[in-house]
Amino acid sequence: KASSSSSPSSTPPIATVLESQNYTIRSVPTKPYDGQKTGTSGLRKKVKVFMQENYLANWIQALFNSLPSEDYVNGVLVLGGDGRYFNKEAAQIIIKIAAANGVAKIFVGQDGILSTPAVSAVIRKRKANGGFVMSASHNPGGPEYDWGIKFNYSSGQPAPESITDKIYGNTLSISEIKMATIPDIDLSRVGVTKFGNFIVEVVDPVGDYMELMESVFDFHLIRSLLSRSDFRFTFDAMHAVTGAYAKPIFVEKLGASMDSISNGVPLEDFGHGHPDPNLTYAKDLVDIMYGDNGPDFGAASDGDGDRNMILGRSFFVTPSDSVAIIAANAQEAIPYFYHGIKGLARSMPTSGALDRVAEKLKLPFFEVPTGWKFFGNLMDSEQLSICGEESFGTGSDHIREKDGIWAVLAWLSILAYRNKEKKQGERLVSVSDVVKEYWAAYGRNFFSRYDYEECESEGANKMVDYLRDLISNSKEGDKYGEYVLRFADDFSYQDPVDGSVVSKQGVRLVFADGSRIIFRLSGTGSAGATIRVYIEQFEPDVSRHDLDAQTALKPLIDLALSLSKLKDFTGREKPTVIT
Ligand code: G6P
Ligand code: ZN
Repeated sequence: KASSSSSPSSTPPIATVLESQNYTIRSVPTKPYDGQKTGTSGLRKKVKVFMQENYLANWIQALFNSLPSEDYVNGVLVLGGDGRYFNKEAAQIIIKIAAANGVAKIFVGQDGILSTPAVSAVIRKRKANGGFVMSASHNPGGPEYDWGIKFNYSSGQPAPESITDKIYGNTLSISEIKMATIPDIDLSRVGVTKFGNFIVEVVDPVGDYMELMESVFDFHLIRSLLSRSDFRFTFDAMHAVTGAYAKPIFVEKLGASMDSISNGVPLEDFGHGHPDPNLTYAKDLVDIMYGDNGPDFGAASDGDGDRNMILGRSFFVTPSDSVAIIAANAQEAIPYFYHGIKGLARSMPTSGALDRVAEKLKLPFFEVPTGWKFFGNLMDSEQLSICGEESFGTGSDHIREKDGIWAVLAWLSILAYRNKEKKQGERLVSVSDVVKEYWAAYGRNFFSRYDYEECESEGANKMVDYLRDLISNSKEGDKYGEYVLRFADDFSYQDPVDGSVVSKQGVRLVFADGSRIIFRLSGTGSAGATIRVYIEQFEPDVSRHDLDAQTALKPLIDLALSLSKLKDFTGREKPTVIT
């Protein structure tokens, strides 16, 4: 159990050298394992697969074999994870292999804890060469469930495909693992351990990240809201990694009440939960927010702390609206953006709400394929400040990962700014007020996503082939019921910085009124194929803004299901998740 990490800020750092001794390097013979190819976000498998003798060690050694030696020999790495089952054993393996391959120093989060955004932040702050995140993100954890590993580069960004492809290549021919003969490190104590020239420093997982958040946001302003007795805040850490961050940041620093954090202790099996903050899996929070006399603001984050869900009282903010609203308000409410926003970006299936903000603020705007990694080059080249995805990811160029706690602090900043003059007893500007004012000013992009999880791959692939065929024969002006086609394509993208091209990123039909229907296969599912159908329709008429999204989108949803023959191809009557 990672329970001692629930309040790491209360343990003062012991910056002492705990041990000092030399070590030797052992050569361990090994044989390749099949299937070590990384997906959208690193290598994810069942824990049992990773627990096979050299399975993890092979992949880690293959990674060192793939990197140019100047990227790690005498270099600095960061290591942390979301607290899930197997992280502690994995950390010891990774440390020993890093030492044997010539790494000079490794920063490890206490108890092996560091959220994905925190790893990105620590890499950047400590000018490390890279870092490991031990996490399978929002997938369930525990002996029967998932484990995963991701590698991030020196900018704090997930390793590019060119590197992950190389790693996979090396896993196919690996014959030797290098292991340092050092004892297991005590990860429960903050401090430095030296073995000859190799140093392990166990760090408080919150420190660097909190410092960064304090430099991005006005903590006084947020505190003025969170410490009010007429504002009720609740954060559900889903027994995942943000449990380690929520109390030090929201309670101790920003004055939220002690009982405002639920499921706030990271557990190895996330308390048997599925730590994905959406309307289906964060049901407890949704019930509280939609119940009688619910809190004014509710939020949740996922296993490794990069996703977020924002709720008001009986009100859900879609991720597509959330990033647009943050962008529209950032220059007033968030110090990091006081001097301007460089540009905005969203993934292709994310609604076009953000496009309208970019247009109004006259900002450069980019539409990229699904995957946070596509934002990195734009940020590094100073063309992008704020971005988001419909898949509950929101963030900025303060790091190179999406950031759940950042999104919560951004929303709290907007609310605090709007309420700073409000006296006790006066009606406060609520989450739904902010959203509705935004809709009134910009129009509402109704949006919904239907997920069909764990379909048979064959049927799902046939459906996609059928759709590709359908659109290749379509042309502008074609009629689909009452909708007139503007264009249809399979999205492709050329990175404006390095010129690289990716294709087949999703079949989209865009209609004359701006409505869109998009079909994609998920790149993150762990069994079978997950079909995602994204539906969007723009509504300028304020009198229709209060409609339920499912009602407003019904004709378009029906059209999407009939034109794709989804039921025939998959046998599915209903989606597994609707957001
Ligand atoms: C991960 C990535 C995101 C991506 C999401 C959904 O969280 O970091 O960038 O949007 O997966 O991917 P999927 O392929 O399952 O739709
Ligand atoms: Zn995640």
